[in-house]
Amino acid sequence: MSELAARPADAVVGIPTPHESATLHVTGRAMYTDDLAVRTSGVLTAWPVQSTNAHARVTIDVSGAYAVPGVVRVLTADDVPGVNDAGVKSDEPLFPSEAMYYGHALVWVLGETPEAARLGAAAVTVRYEPLPSLITVVEAIDAGSFQGAALTVQRGDAATALTTAPFVFEGVTEFGGQEHFYLETNASLAHLDSEGQYFVECSTQHPSETQEIVAHVLGIPSNRVTVQALRMGGGFGGKEMQPHGLAAIAALGAGLTGRPVRLRLNRTQDITMTGKRHPFHIAWRAGFDADGAILALEATLTSDGGWCLDLSEPVLSRALCHFDNAYWIPHVNVHGRVAKTNKTSNTAFRGFGGPQGVFLIEDILGRVAPVLGVEPIALRRRNFYQPGQATPYGQPVKDAERMHAIWDQVRGEADVDARRVSTALFNAQHEHVKRAIAMTPIKFGISFNYTAYNQAGALVHVYKDGSVLVNHGGTEMGQGLHTKMLQVAATALGVPLQQVRLAPTRTDKVPNTSATAASSGADLNGAAVKNACDQIRDRMTPVAARLLGVDDADVRFSGGRVTAPGVERALTFAEVASASYFARVQLFAAGYYRTEGLHWDGVRMQGSPFKYFAYGVAATEVEVDGFTGAYRVRRVDIVHDVGDSLSPQIDLGQIEGGYVQGVGWLTLEELRWDTGDGPDRGRLLTQSASTYKLPSFSEMPEQFNVRLFADAREDGAVYGSKAVGEPPLMLAFSAREAIREAVGAFGPTGRTVELGSPATPEAVFWAIRSARAAALDASADRPVAAAAALADSAL
Ligand code: MTE
Ligand code: MOS
Repeated sequence: MSELAARPADAVVGIPTPHESATLHVTGRAMYTDDLAVRTSGVLTAWPVQSTNAHARVTIDVSGAYAVPGVVRVLTADDVPGVNDAGVKSDEPLFPSEAMYYGHALVWVLGETPEAARLGAAAVTVRYEPLPSLITVVEAIDAGSFQGAALTVQRGDAATALTTAPFVFEGVTEFGGQEHFYLETNASLAHLDSEGQYFVECSTQHPSETQEIVAHVLGIPSNRVTVQALRMGGGFGGKEMQPHGLAAIAALGAGLTGRPVRLRLNRTQDITMTGKRHPFHIAWRAGFDADGAILALEATLTSDGGWCLDLSEPVLSRALCHFDNAYWIPHVNVHGRVAKTNKTSNTAFRGFGGPQGVFLIEDILGRVAPVLGVEPIALRRRNFYQPGQATPYGQPVKDAERMHAIWDQVRGEADVDARRVSTALFNAQHEHVKRAIAMTPIKFGISFNYTAYNQAGALVHVYKDGSVLVNHGGTEMGQGLHTKMLQVAATALGVPLQQVRLAPTRTDKVPNTSATAASSGADLNGAAVKNACDQIRDRMTPVAARLLGVDDADVRFSGGRVTAPGVERALTFAEVASASYFARVQLFAAGYYRTEGLHWDGVRMQGSPFKYFAYGVAATEVEVDGFTGAYRVRRVDIVHDVGDSLSPQIDLGQIEGGYVQGVGWLTLEELRWDTGDGPDRGRLLTQSASTYKLPSFSEMPEQFNVRLFADAREDGAVYGSKAVGEPPLMLAFSAREAIREAVGAFGPTGRTVELGSPATPEAVFWAIRSARAAALDASADRPVAAAAALADSAL
């Protein structure tokens, strides 16, 4: 076992602990960025002027705004002292001369009050010279409108394998995006102090990059900008890059006016201005043998990147590392490209392209199972990776047998086989209501694909009274990272949880941090925090040894006491801290960690980009109503692999939340854009919770059983744990597949069911209609095509 993974007997990690801010959250006392603005005197509010055209050259006259009482200043491109760009790809002008999408912020008005700023923005006149616009990904494909690098994952010879495969299917798989809908919308608050130092409070998952962009825009070095992320009311990937430009606007305004500037998007602004999960269009061909083993896959994945690149390339890269999900596919030729459309710039969203990749293979398996005449559960299990096999990009699938064990555990504990029999009986007795149970696995790669991001830092202080203050580079967005870091520090120093406090994340405490993303916040920052604590404890050890009259090796730190076997006297941690100070021992340390053993060629798409895989399996039972297409999730059983959990209560919450967020994406949440040729072309029609349906209390599974896979130590990670933030989202495919099977039960056997995505009741209704029509055809004695014949036709 590695030293990193070894866990002391009395560890504070592993104990179920509520979120460190749980009480503050539920009592409404937790502070968020904009709460600080409300308490800041003399603060100005920034308000955007948003484009009402999907694509147009713009001429802007701001003079009207200055006639509005309370308007202090209008920020335009002329005000930018540094670089007029909010991104890292130089394709994201902060003040654009061309509106690239409906809702694009063109200029910003600073007002004494939000109302003054709003009225000022309304008084700005914009003249549009419309240009042709592309709204859907299909329009972009037809127009040849792409951006960024195209990528290919290749293994073996898919073309040949497809000519010899006994069964070949082909199809198009299309699915929609997803709005993050974090409860706290994007917010920044910027100050400039008398020394010319900018201090920016920002709801950001990536404070270091926010700092960098602010510095670029202002044309100053990074050491003049400090970014602090107090806590976020949700990020889900939506605050990995999107906050940078907004923070830069606030900082620019603070610099020009000498007053604090607050920028908080309201819900409509946030939803119409910021990027979402990428929708994809995928054309594919897949070959199978007569037993249902996948032989080959050819596909072209086109993601809808929106108006600029943002994180579209790395998101695509992760999609291409996840279309295999848990399955061995010998021959692979899969291409990926990013479409450029006149919409918000799509970005990271929980899973970061992984869900989009997994969608492809789960959709294929769900579609072909009835045609092959293989039960979907058997078809999936049959194609699982076996120990010793590698992914299409060449990474050995470590611990593949763990996935088999988890699958078998869910199948057994959830009584899946018996319940499938009773479900079939139920369906035979009910003409207008059908039920189904589906199981799907997830195998998700942990680490940033981009190797350089796999590093982290921490700064830990021990004070003379024995209290501990921890800073680290990760940000808290509700996922419980800070709770885990408190547990890690308490474990490493051998003190009770209450003795450790966490300070807000700041770029002047830990520099050059990676985004808190890719689920690796605890892996990376946890190892850095542990490293800092280990250094301090090692320095305190000789001091304690002297006081106890023992050898260094005999000193034990545990539960706030410092002891040695056979010595009756026990010291408190505080006593040793104080004695260490007077012995001139350094009681603070910078911790650092980088993940070893990763290598990745992002151009050839080959290598081992992940430290390990996180595994999980879900079995979901649904009931579908034949008249309306409405469905209920009756029961969910999940077993998920979090290694040896750092914080079981936090992890259970992440699994439940991730699953439900995934069900939202796949079955409820539908982004609708005006795709017509009228003046509102490109406008987002679903701009609030009234039209954008989110999962809520009534959509929770009636029975929701979540278990952590037991005795699951991961040798390469901090205290034997595994990342948990994103992988459970993809367990929601079991809900989509269960809906597909229930719809299938309205039709004849052996018929494939195509399901729109999201599988809203409306989409389900139309799928049932066509299943029923096929059943009528079948009963009218029209020949039902045999599997082989069907296989020839496009699915
Ligand atoms: N959980 C909550 N409550 N809120 C969030 O914003 N973000 C998710 C996940 N879980 C999120 C969440 C995403 S997209 C990621 S990448 C991880 O948390 C990031 O945190 P971690 O690396 O500490 O797991
Ligand atoms: Mo998560 S999508 O990696 O922020």
